[in-house]
Amino acid sequence: INYLVPKTRGEIINTLVEGLQRQEYRGYDSAGLAIDGLNDGEVVIYREVGKVAALKNLIKEANPPTENVIDAHVGIAHTRWATHGQPLRKNCHPQRSDVRNEFVVVHNGIITNFREIRELLSSKGFQFESDTDTECIAKLAKFIYDNNKEHNLDFSQLAKLVALELEGAYGLIVKSTHFPDEVVATRKGSPLLIGVKTEKKLKVDFVDVEFPDMNVTEEVNIASATNRNLLNVANTDNLRHSQSRAFLSEDGIPMATEFFIASDPAAVIEHTKKVLFLEDDDIAHIYDGELHIHRVRREAGASTIRSIQTLEMELNEIMKGSFDHFMQKEIFEQPESVINTMRGRIDFEKKTVQLGGLRSFLPTIRRCRRLIMIACGTSYHSCLATRSTFEELTEIPVSVELASDFLDRKSPVFRDDVCVFVSQSGETADTMLALQYCIERGALTVGVVNSVGSSISRQTNCGVHINAGPEIGVASTKAYTSQYIALTLFALSLSDDSMSKKSRREAIIDGLYHISSQIKEVLLLNDKIKELCRTELNDHKSLLLLGRGYQFATALEGALKIKEISYMHSEGVLAGELKHGVLALVDENLPIIALATRDSLFPKVISAIEQVTARSGKPIVICNKGDFKDHDLQTLEVPATVDCLQGLLNVIPLQLASYHLAVMKGFNVDFPRNLAKSVTVE
Ligand code: G6P
Repeated sequence: INYLVPKTRGEIINTLVEGLQRQEYRGYDSAGLAIDGLNDGEVVIYREVGKVAALKNLIKEANPPTENVIDAHVGIAHTRWATHGQPLRKNCHPQRSDVRNEFVVVHNGIITNFREIRELLSSKGFQFESDTDTECIAKLAKFIYDNNKEHNLDFSQLAKLVALELEGAYGLIVKSTHFPDEVVATRKGSPLLIGVKTEKKLKVDFVDVEFPDMNVTEEVNIASATNRNLLNVANTDNLRHSQSRAFLSEDGIPMATEFFIASDPAAVIEHTKKVLFLEDDDIAHIYDGELHIHRVRREAGASTIRSIQTLEMELNEIMKGSFDHFMQKEIFEQPESVINTMRGRIDFEKKTVQLGGLRSFLPTIRRCRRLIMIACGTSYHSCLATRSTFEELTEIPVSVELASDFLDRKSPVFRDDVCVFVSQSGETADTMLALQYCIERGALTVGVVNSVGSSISRQTNCGVHINAGPEIGVASTKAYTSQYIALTLFALSLSDDSMSKKSRREAIIDGLYHISSQIKEVLLLNDKIKELCRTELNDHKSLLLLGRGYQFATALEGALKIKEISYMHSEGVLAGELKHGVLALVDENLPIIALATRDSLFPKVISAIEQVTARSGKPIVICNKGDFKDHDLQTLEVPATVDCLQGLLNVIPLQLASYHLAVMKGFNVDFPRNLAKSVTVE
């Protein structure tokens, strides 16, 4: 929504389309946008299945007037990843209230009571056009608007009445012909942020928008508040029980502003770095160049501060550079990203670890009954990979849980439990729900997250940012190695009061010192791995990865990478379980990769490999230098490190193998079919 300088319609369309393109890495199956038409009170919608480029073509063919200048304008746009209803044009967003497009809505999330709302509205004569849950929001807005004409509801009051009817998760934006040049956005469980662009520079990096007690109606004197150049413009009627703020420059003059509402900072970063993250149940209402924030519900104890933060991310950080794919770039970035995870946290001379975000919580965590690590996908594997490091160093019982299964079981959680939530995006719905569940039960919650400002990092009591930088490839690579290291650092700092573990801690810290250069060494295997993929793996339908102990997580993560992007069936198998079933699959044709680096279980892995070769299997072995010289097997030799860090090196050949297999098969490496980077639905 723009009040800064008048723009042409073409510029507005471009801004929206480019914003969508910046979010393409999240994975989606269709796209759409709505802008004002040429006539007063006219809203035009363009929607298309497929890539944003297809939407662009559609708009080009429709040939809307692009030259005319518009003073203030609200446009909304969306990429959709189907949950309710197939990827068809009728199911793309924006969804609308009626043929005149009186209310148009874009929505992330799932409305769980949409059937009830749909039934009610159908009985009132509304005709539904799509299979989506979102459509009921647009129609509900119209229904409430039409039935409350005598109340002269403003847009935020209307949004509030709509939000009160919705159950489930949503981040949504509404545009209406009844409120031209205004927009409302609200969220619950789905991320939304507002980028603010002004001609005048904000002098401070953090500007707090403070809500006084929800019942307070008088103006707040901003002069007394530090770092604040936002002014309360009190709204005092019943529905609007929250306070709101207008943007003022330092001399008190309202600032001309352009606002960008998005679910992802990547969409706004090229316009502004100043962003405000909305909280659940916030209603942002933008009109007359001002941003006002209201609350859906009156509640005690809710946070009353919203900060305008400066994003650190540079646009070039989210671009591919000289690599063919984001995933390839991210694999090769790992020597640097692991250093970024450790930066400022390890004193390699004194052999100590400091995690600022956890320091004051360590005594409480040490006293806990148990640690529960909760995550999904690759993040779950990073928990499995580091579980025994926690157990060994802290002697606290540790369980590792898949977020969805943990919730399905309604697993008991107590006040003296510590729950650790690991998530690259910090937005994964299953992990978020598990977090909510643990908060409700009074456990101490810790976030291990990559995305700063994400829901998980804001809602946990304390935590560690893994600082891997933006990860765009849907298949997670550098986030895995950084999560692995961040969790190891967490275990190290938890145990730093234990003398008996000192020498072990120091050995691990020494291992971490060399890990970046060792990753570089493993990356030199790239060509050999590509060749092995071509000759040994590419023509096969299925692949087994064998590992045990620390390397079971590596086997699972390698198998996940391969199936995610090369669509080849692959399975991580605990080598100890081989003889209890999987051995039946083994013959001279089935490709197998065995993880056989040196640790206390090395002899047992050798025996598993022998069980395989005795059945004419010919595994490719990932091993330390020289260890399999006497065997007639293909090897990928990796440097040796401390046993509990070896998985950081062993996973890299598997990441590279999955990448090459996907490229060879001609699949879309960065955006695999049916998958999304950030799964914000349950
Ligand atoms: C999705 C992604 C995976 C990721 C998982 C957990 O399935 O495709 O790559 O591992 O979500 O995501 P998170 O952001 O919580 O780590």
